Amino acid sequence: MGAKHFTTQVAIIGGGPAGLLLSHILQKHGIESIVLERQTKDYVLARIRAGFLEHGTVQMLRDYDLGERMDREGLPKNGGAIACQGKPGVYIDTVKWTGKQMMAYGQTAITEDLYAARERDGGHVINEAGQVALHDLKSDRPRVTFSKDGENYEIACSFIAGCDGFHGVSRQSIPSDVLKVFERAYPFGWLGIMAEVPPLKELVYAYHEDGFALASQRNPMLSRYYVQCDINDAIEDWTDDRFWEALLRRMPDDIAGKITTGPSIEKSIAPLRSFVAEPMQYGALFLAGDAAHIVPPTGAKGLNLAFSDVHYLSRGLIEHLKHNRSHHLERYSADALRRVWSAENFSWRMTKMLHAFPNEDPFTRRIQANTYDLLLQHPPMQQALAYEYVGLPF
Ligand code: APR
Ligand code: PHB
Repeated sequence: MGAKHFTTQVAIIGGGPAGLLLSHILQKHGIESIVLERQTKDYVLARIRAGFLEHGTVQMLRDYDLGERMDREGLPKNGGAIACQGKPGVYIDTVKWTGKQMMAYGQTAITEDLYAARERDGGHVINEAGQVALHDLKSDRPRVTFSKDGENYEIACSFIAGCDGFHGVSRQSIPSDVLKVFERAYPFGWLGIMAEVPPLKELVYAYHEDGFALASQRNPMLSRYYVQCDINDAIEDWTDDRFWEALLRRMPDDIAGKITTGPSIEKSIAPLRSFVAEPMQYGALFLAGDAAHIVPPTGAKGLNLAFSDVHYLSRGLIEHLKHNRSHHLERYSADALRRVWSAENFSWRMTKMLHAFPNEDPFTRRIQANTYDLLLQHPPMQQALAYEYVGLPF
């Protein structure tokens, strides 16, 4: 039996934050899309990721009528604190240096809001789409095939947006002699826990010779904490007691004294990686979000960067499909990559400054310590960091 056919303007692979936001923005401009997501909606919504939004991300969500719950439940922040064992702390004050606030609001909540908006607006999202494959990318009539509930389908479209994350099929559909990959792995992971206890008032990033620690938050009764762990650790190695003991030891005493501990309701280990694939376009296929790049989580750029890609991509697609001009679409990869590399740079520097690197040579350790001292002693360094932390302008 032949495949059933759909036609749309933009086929979007992946129903994570990038794919859902793109579909939402395109619909606001009268452009049709179909989102193909491999997993169930419940599965997508159960994923726990970072939750600290740049000023531009907050503004973008508001501009597209997605900010209502964020403005009610999110926690506006004037920046974040950095601590370093045995030294005074420094507050990266984004309001003081840039006039802009940030927002603590979880990616899980954003994804819920995006799904709700898609359902409310009659957006076409197909969950549990299997065997997604991309075809004829170099033609002006690209196609996507997939299966669902034992039936085969084909979508004819003008463009394909590859928003299917690091392990998706889109990037893999670009010939390997075209794609250039830049990569760095780090010799440690982050162990994260969620606990139903009141968080600290501020985010705190802490360097300690035992390893990095981070205090974050989701809402007034939900705390998110992380400690650097060994790359080979298993989750069973980390009881709640061991986690809290490590966290409190790595935080300065005055901060540790304010942390409320309690049973974890979620615990997981994530590896740290820097990764960029260039270019972010191949014929009719445009990559966005984790499909094209990964940053280590220090500084929480991942989601913000995915939305930055969606900003540039939606601009190009709208200009092309509504106004028949391809200026911005042709420049998509170059425009998006400039911001991607800035976020890669920031995340790499933050990671290098704040983590304990196993077997670090003494020279590099001195340079690391000096990087913090420069930040502590020189307000222009704080200003520069605040400028990157709050998010570069689009
Ligand atoms: N077919 C269809 N969908 C797929 C496929 C496939 N072959 N492979 C992956 N997907 C789906 C995944 O199930 C996931 O829901 O694509 C989606 C990609 O979502 P994310 O991984 O969340 O990536 P993205 O939308 O780019 O979000 C940006 O910001 O905080 C960071 O890494 C974090 O996920 C976050 C990212
Ligand atoms: C988080 O809350 O998960 C978080 C916050 C800030 C970061 C990284 C992660 O820099």
